[in-house]
Formats: sequence, C-alpha cells, structure tokens
Amino acid sequence: ICMNCHSAVKTESPEIQKIYAAIENDRPIEWVRVHNLPDLAYFNHSQHVEVGGIECQTCHGPIEEMDVVRQHSLLTMGWCIDCHRKTDVNTKGNEYYDKLVELHDAESKEALKVEDIGGLECSKCHY
Ligand code: HEC
Ligand code: HEC
Ligand code: HEC
Ligand code: HEC
Repeated sequence: ICMNCHSAVKTESPEIQKIYAAIENDRPIEWVRVHNLPDLAYFNHSQHVEVGGIECQTCHGPIEEMDVVRQHSLLTMGWCIDCHRKTDVNTKGNEYYDKLVELHDAESKEALKVEDIGGLECSKCHY
C-alpha cells in the first residue's frame, strides 16, 4: 500500500528507504514505540480526545515540530491522577453528563472534575 505512492514519492528520503529495505528483506517495517504504558495500566485515546476534547499537544507536547518523536510527559500514575484532580469534565453539549452535573451542582460549588466521575478509581485504569 505504501508503495502505491512511495515508488514515486520521496524515493530518496532515508525514511522511505526503510520501506524499501523492509520489502527487500521481506519483513515488516520495525516501528519504534516511544510511548508505552506497562500492561497493567489501561489508557484509551477516544475517552480523552473525542469525549474529553483534549488536544494531542497537551500530553504529547509540540509534536508538530518533532522530526523524531520523543516522550514529552512522564506517563506515571501521578501524571494521570494529577490531571484527573485538576481538570474539569467537558460536559457542554454532552447529554450523558446532564443529570450528573445537576446532582453535582446541588452539592458543590466547584465544577465537575474528572475525579468526580471516578477518575481516581483503581479499577478504571487497572484491570
Ligand atoms: C496516497 C499516497 C501515499 C501513501 C499510500 C503513503 N504515503 Fe507516505 N507520503 C505521501 C506523500 C505525498 C508524502 C510527502 C508529504 C510531504 O512531504 O509533505 C509522504 C511522506 C511520507 C514520509 C515522510 C518522508 C520524509 O522524508 O519526509 C514517510 C515516513 C511516509 N510517507 C511513510 C509512509 C508509509 C510507511 C506508508 C504506508 C503505511 C505511506 N507513507 C503511504 C504519500 C503517501
Ligand atoms: C490525555 C493524554 C493524551 C492525549 C490527549 C493524547 N495522547 Fe497519545 N498517548 C498517550 C498515552 C498515555 C500513550 C501511551 C498509551 C499506551 O501505551 O497504552 C499515548 C500513545 C500514543 C501513540 C503511540 C506512540 C508511540 O510512541 O508509539 C500515538 C501515535 C499517539 N498517542 C497519538 C496521539 C494523537 C494523534 C493524539 C491527538 C489526536 C493523542 N495521542 C492524544 C496520551 C495521550
Ligand atoms: C491532560 C489531562 C489528563 C491526563 C494527563 C490523563 N487524563 Fe484521563 N481523563 C481526562 C479527562 C478530561 C477525562 C474525562 C473525559 C470524559 O469527559 O469522559 C478522563 C477520563 C479518564 C478515564 C475514564 C474515567 C471515568 O470514570 O469515566 C480513564 C480510565 C482515564 N482517564 C485514564 C487515564 C490514564 C490511565 C492516564 C495516564 C496514563 C490519564 N487518564 C491521563 C484527562 C486526563
Ligand atoms: C488514572 C489512572 C490510574 C488510576 C485511577 C490508578 N492508577 Fe495505578 N497506575 C496507573 C499507571 C498509568 C501506572 C503505570 C505508571 C508507570 O509506568 O510509571 C500505574 C501503576 C501502578 C502501580 C505500580 C505497578 C508496578 O508494579 O509498577 C500500582 C501498585 C498501582 N498503580 C496501584 C494503584 C492503586 C492501588 C490505585 C487506586 C488507589 C491506582 N493504581 C489507581 C494509572 C492509574
């Protein structure tokens, strides 16, 4: 599939040469995984990007300026928990949260935070 274009596009690029090498040696391209949580922790991008409305850069840093990807955030448990304590849930225009916001506002003057929807519960991130 890559070669549909790259047999003509940027053929001289060292990065594209890696695809040629893989094909010649008849083995997959070796992807270097930079961000990798241990298996004991579960992280879901949709929950954060689609539902939460968080920008890639909030966690990955100025990714659009990186020729080679590097890890920007610590990716420790404290990093996850810290953000869940501080961050307001993006509830606007999301009916799922209407009832919850109502209940929360009756008891608290603070905005609904991720910790209020269970973001500190062990089992949400650990199986
Ligand atoms: C539909 C055409 C198309 C397909 C299919 C395609 N590419 Fe590309 N790719 C491009 C174009 C066009 C560029 C140049 C973009 C630019 O320079 O702005 C590019 C750039 C790249 C670059 C950056 C190269 C450099 O030195 O800047 C890499 C790496 C790359 N492609 C990898 C892949 C891989 C791996 C696949 C298959 C999984 C793939 N591409 C499939 C069109 C394609
Ligand atoms: C809330 C923080 C957060 C946001 C926002 C986020 N990511 Fe991630 N991303 C992570 C974490 C944590 C991992 C490691 C996941 C794992 O190992 O299971 C990761 C891993 C990745 C990886 C695998 C990278 C590698 O090193 O192999 C890619 C690609 C990626 N993210 C792209 C994106 C893109 C694109 C966006 C925006 C649309 C985005 N991420 C938004 C936290 C985030
Ligand atoms: C930049 C802030 C931020 C960081 C960092 C972050 N999260 Fe989140 N997380 C959120 C937000 C905001 C939500 C709520 C999204 C929504 O509206 O449902 C969320 C929701 C979640 C939920 C769902 C909680 C629930 O009860 O519905 C899980 C699980 C989760 N995050 C895991 C993680 C893990 C694991 C990490 C670290 C690897 C992490 N998050 C790092 C902001 C963050
Ligand atoms: C928001 C997500 C999140 C929540 C909630 C969470 N954890 Fe974690 N936890 C993680 C992540 C991510 C790691 C891996 C961090 C790393 O690799 O440095 C981790 C690592 C750990 C480890 C270390 C495991 C090892 O051997 O290295 C333990 C133990 C642990 N968590 C226990 C808990 C307990 C107990 C709770 C509830 C009180 C909890 N966690 C709640 C995300 C979370």
